[in-house]
Amino acid sequence: MTDTLRDRSVVIFGGTSGIGLSAARQAKAAGARVTVIGFDAAGAERIGTENGFAGWRAADVTKPETIAAALADIDHVDHLVLLAGTFVAGTILEADVGYLHRAFDERIWAAMHALRALGDRLDSDGSVTFISGALSDRPNAYGTAVLAAASAAMEAFARGLALELAPRRFNTVSPGTTDTPLLTRTLGDGREAYVDALKEKLPLHRLGTAEEVGAAVVFLMSNGFMNGETLHVDGGARLV
Ligand SMILES: NC(=O)c1ccc[n+]([C@@H]2O[C@H](COP(=O)([O-])OP(=O)(O)OC[C@H]3O[C@@H](n4cnc5c(N)ncnc54)[C@H](OP(=O)(O)O)[C@@H]3O)[C@@H](O)[C@H]2O)c1
Repeated sequence: MTDTLRDRSVVIFGGTSGIGLSAARQAKAAGARVTVIGFDAAGAERIGTENGFAGWRAADVTKPETIAAALADIDHVDHLVLLAGTFVAGTILEADVGYLHRAFDERIWAAMHALRALGDRLDSDGSVTFISGALSDRPNAYGTAVLAAASAAMEAFARGLALELAPRRFNTVSPGTTDTPLLTRTLGDGREAYVDALKEKLPLHRLGTAEEVGAAVVFLMSNGFMNGETLHVDGGARLV
């Protein structure tokens, strides 16, 4: 696995924090030339410099022109990873529709714009890895129906693109609740109580780590026979 990434060009949207940053570090450790793309330009520069990544950029994945600009001077990409996103939650009858759109804008439409912007610069031997989430299989009644739909859509999108853009490989990682900055940002002061209650229910009585999910991302890009797959990294959360 190590050698398959040596000197490969890896671009990770969402590579400046959490799961994406961990995937970026592991891909770099395997010899890849990694470019990370985050929302915040100063943060991307700091993370890129601190970690010795080959490049760093900023983009807003809900804005196609910034996606194209971030990719404009990248010669070619062997492995593209798309996991930039936020926790979009709001009830279907009350939440602002424009806000709910973000769930799909950050996922399906961002992926489409990134693929169109890259065109033939995405190597035909290469791979694309999306992210979904446990909500795709295990929705709840707390305003996450649109996010669950967008997550499930990524899995279906990957399977369709594995045929349409073959022989490029398309896969999706579906994490359970993972301990990243997103969790604190989303739950605020309620984080501890939420996490304690969740741990109680989970088979492993803990959350996943960014390293564990990042390793699954690197596995999918490294293993040349993984294609059209959804890889669940949830500690068995779907069983309970
Ligand atoms: N953590 C979980 O429990 C969990 C579970 C299931 C699925 N996921 C999904 O996994 C992905 C990564 O989550 P994480 O937990 O690693 O989150 P995180 O630590 O908050 O990292 C999110 C990354 O996405 C970038 N980003 C967010 N909005 C963006 C935008 N509009 N344009 C460009 N970049 C943007 C952030 O850039 P900045 O740092 O510059 O803001 C950061 O690099 C998300 O799509 C999330 O929905 C997470």
